[in-house]
Amino acid sequence: MRILVTGAGGQLGCELVAILREDDVHAFDHRTLDITNEAAVVATVRQIRPEWIINAAAFNDVDGAETAEPAAFMANAQGPANLAGAAAGIDAALIHVSTDYVFDGRKGKPYTEDDRPNPISVYGRSKYEGERRVLESKGRTCVLRTAWLYGKYGRNFVKAIRDAASTGPALRLEDFFML
Ligand SMILES: NC(=O)c1ccc[n+]([C@@H]2O[C@H](COP(=O)([O-])OP(=O)(O)OC[C@H]3O[C@@H](n4cnc5c(N)ncnc54)[C@H](OP(=O)(O)O)[C@@H]3O)[C@@H](O)[C@H]2O)c1
Repeated sequence: MRILVTGAGGQLGCELVAILREDDVHAFDHRTLDITNEAAVVATVRQIRPEWIINAAAFNDVDGAETAEPAAFMANAQGPANLAGAAAGIDAALIHVSTDYVFDGRKGKPYTEDDRPNPISVYGRSKYEGERRVLESKGRTCVLRTAWLYGKYGRNFVKAIRDAASTGPALRLEDFFML
């Protein structure tokens, strides 16, 4: 399969490129394709003509988004909308990765696809807007929501705990909640 991966330099993007290595993968990191640049997105998608597009690009700094709302919405809402439009233009399918931050966390038990989003942070609202714009596009789209990612690449909860445990005194878990 011919697959275009955006955000390929990130934690998830790196894993996807490695896992999909037997397919015809075209990987673009932030430097080689900025998903907020609609003209570049359309041109790249038309040139590659993938069957699938996987969007792993995001403004992923949850705390930082509180003081960078325009940038968060550009990357997390406008970018996915650009990809959805470009995908529809060549009838490619788009998989867009989203987050449990679209919920407010007050349910007290696991969320399902049918629960109503109620984001309470700028990051969560920007990701929810991205979901809506992808699903409202005319193309073949799928939104996957995940919670914390763990992997070999980038920063994550497991690595932070491991590093702190190997260097410091007893850990207080709440110190690590906002990675
Ligand atoms: N990490 C988690 O625990 C977690 C939990 C739930 C959901 N998710 C979701 O999972 C997806 C992948 O997350 P991740 O942990 O792999 O994030 P990540 O490591 O921060 O990777 C995101 C990548 O997107 C790139 N990027 C940012 N803005 C871009 C733009 N305008 N155009 C193109 N690329 C851009 C970043 O490049 P630069 O760094 O160079 O800007 C970075 O390489 C995201 O949708 C995120 O919301 C992540």
